[in-house]
Amino acid sequence: MQSNVRPETMERITTTELAEAFIEEQVKELKEQIGDKKVLLALSGGVDSSVVAALLIKAVGQQLVCVHVNHGLLRKGEPEQVVEVFRNQMNANLVYVDAVDRFLDKLAGVAEPEKKRKIIGAEFIRVFEEEARKLDGIEFLAQGTIYPDILESDGVKAHHNVGGLPEDLKFELVEPLKLLFKDEVRVVGKALGLPDNMVYRQPFPGPGLGVRCLGAITRDRLEAVRESDAILRDEFAKNGLEGKVWQYFTAVPDFRSVGVKDGKRTFAYPVIIRAVNTKDAMTATVEDVPFSLLQHITARITAEVPNVNRVLFDLTPKPSATIEWE
Ligand code: XMP
Repeated sequence: MQSNVRPETMERITTTELAEAFIEEQVKELKEQIGDKKVLLALSGGVDSSVVAALLIKAVGQQLVCVHVNHGLLRKGEPEQVVEVFRNQMNANLVYVDAVDRFLDKLAGVAEPEKKRKIIGAEFIRVFEEEARKLDGIEFLAQGTIYPDILESDGVKAHHNVGGLPEDLKFELVEPLKLLFKDEVRVVGKALGLPDNMVYRQPFPGPGLGVRCLGAITRDRLEAVRESDAILRDEFAKNGLEGKVWQYFTAVPDFRSVGVKDGKRTFAYPVIIRAVNTKDAMTATVEDVPFSLLQHITARITAEVPNVNRVLFDLTPKPSATIEWE
């Protein structure tokens, strides 16, 4: 078993050649560790779990069972992309769980941010546990733990939350990325053939759009967050800001204001745009987004997203604000 300390002599994986050597070595080790047994993986579609999935598919193929829980708080197109890339292109053994109603029912009426986070985390474990119990012969649990997770916590990925599985479901852990830094994980992901928009994806919180649909989550505002975020990402990509800005997203508060559309009075939600740069997420500065682009994005959001009549841009660095709104 690999130690949790990165040897000082370990070379940084910066090139395809180095990534290929890492992949070859890991595939060999994973084959030895897993043998003919089955491995379970919670596949969110984020960089880390996606790279773990691709590595394990290469090493043990159909012995890997990926479980993708769609909790309804993912960005537009994400669940579909997980199915397309892993089931259709990589021929993975993928269990897709539509848990949207279940999560939204549990979250109904809950406005307190930490309570929302707890409900999302706990429900995720419950859904994952139910799926794990349906499967026979699983002996290993794969996790996308990376080196910063080990340095910063006790090694269990807080937002993956699978550390909370009950005693009788404690599988042996498989953590092939645990000595890698994020930039190395991306190089490995690229060498494994994962699409760029999966490998170079901006950070996305575990509770997903749940912390961007402010206050008690409702379906109409959740839709407004998802659709406005998709427009923002589309426009940032078209205008060369994707990959340049560290994190950008929209949030929708739980109040409405008066507006006017087609000569009629509206009473609808505002969308808040946030675009920040940071090294470590402890402090952050606001990206100087061209005003004309903000005007264009505003026009698109107010024209295309139902129940929205205003767009605001958050000018606040961290501190005094945090990056997310809750
Ligand atoms: P804040 O809002 O604290 O965010 O300035 C710093 C970074 O952490 C992300 N974030 C989260 N990630 N679960 C996560 O996995 C969470 O509950 C969570 N809250 C914030 C945030 O997106 C930013 O990158």
